[in-house]
Amino acid sequence: MTIVLGIETSCDETGVGIVRMPDSGVPELLANEIASSVEEHARFGGVVPEVASRAHLQAMVPAVHRALTTAGLTGRDVDAVAVTAGPGLAGALLVGVAAAKAYAAAWDVPLYGVNHLAAHVAVDTVQHGPLPPALALLVSGGHSSILAVPDLAGPVTPLGSTIDDAAGEAFDKVARLLGLPFPGGPWIDKAAREGDRNAIRFPRGLTGPRDAKHDFSFSGLKTAVARYVESLDGDVPVADVAASFQEAVTDVLTLKAVRAAQEFGMDTVLLGGGVAANSRLREMAEERCTAAGLTLRVPRPGLCTDNGAMVAALGAHLVHTGAQPSDLGIPANSSMP
Ligand code: KG4
Ligand code: ZN
Repeated sequence: MTIVLGIETSCDETGVGIVRMPDSGVPELLANEIASSVEEHARFGGVVPEVASRAHLQAMVPAVHRALTTAGLTGRDVDAVAVTAGPGLAGALLVGVAAAKAYAAAWDVPLYGVNHLAAHVAVDTVQHGPLPPALALLVSGGHSSILAVPDLAGPVTPLGSTIDDAAGEAFDKVARLLGLPFPGGPWIDKAAREGDRNAIRFPRGLTGPRDAKHDFSFSGLKTAVARYVESLDGDVPVADVAASFQEAVTDVLTLKAVRAAQEFGMDTVLLGGGVAANSRLREMAEERCTAAGLTLRVPRPGLCTDNGAMVAALGAHLVHTGAQPSDLGIPANSSMP
């Protein structure tokens, strides 16, 4: 049995999670503390790196204390520390990596520097247990990728990614066009519930027969929404635009994820990243996976957006599978592939 504490600071959430990994390999989430600086960024319409770094610095030690208290543990009970080493905002990552090194050194336990995107995939194990080989659709503010994940601890095969905006970025930009607050994804999700998803037929990027099969493009869609909104001269039906835009994004994401799973012979589709919290995406993925005979795995919304549990979950898997710990000198790598 191993207790792993995970630290996440790649963007604007200071996350500290604690996972217990028994010898059976079925992880258990003991704590998941999050302190967000999102409100400090809202008035700028996007995350301000310097503000995020300072907020991490202030939130870090209290968040570790809260997580230990919630789990009913002390630092002496922790067997390993895991931390997001990249990708993400350089200054923000540095705070987490420095803190993780300090805790690992003070508690005299191994340190595991992990990839943020792999952690978005790994978090599902604390809700649904060990992951079989899966086709992962990772959709966040910075990434939109289709990956073949044979094993969490091993190399993944990128099958496709966005050629312009990430899905979350498209949600945030369209929300801004509609006068909704930052970050826009949850607001679009909410507004769309009152709207007609078939009201406006927005373009589905890269879905033509000659287009790159597993890649995404959302900038044309964003421009189409901008043109539509401009053409109305005020009086924008926000709920209908939100619902129609969301329908276009989720249509393409689920179409491509199912197609890739079928092409590469994978029985399980896993959704991860902040956009996987989207209610319509979850609903459509369930419908299309069921129709295609695929098993869908998607963590609860609170585990899809950035958090510390995802890092602890991946760390616990690495310890369980006997992976080599990182050197205490590991750098933060903002552009980690
Ligand atoms: O994974 P995440 O928390 O941070 C990154 O690694 O980027 O993802 C944040 C993104 C933001 O763009 C946010 O608007 C989007 O996830 N998001 C959503 C929803 N909740 C968060 N997008 C659509 N629907 C949601 N319910
Ligand atoms: Zn993320």
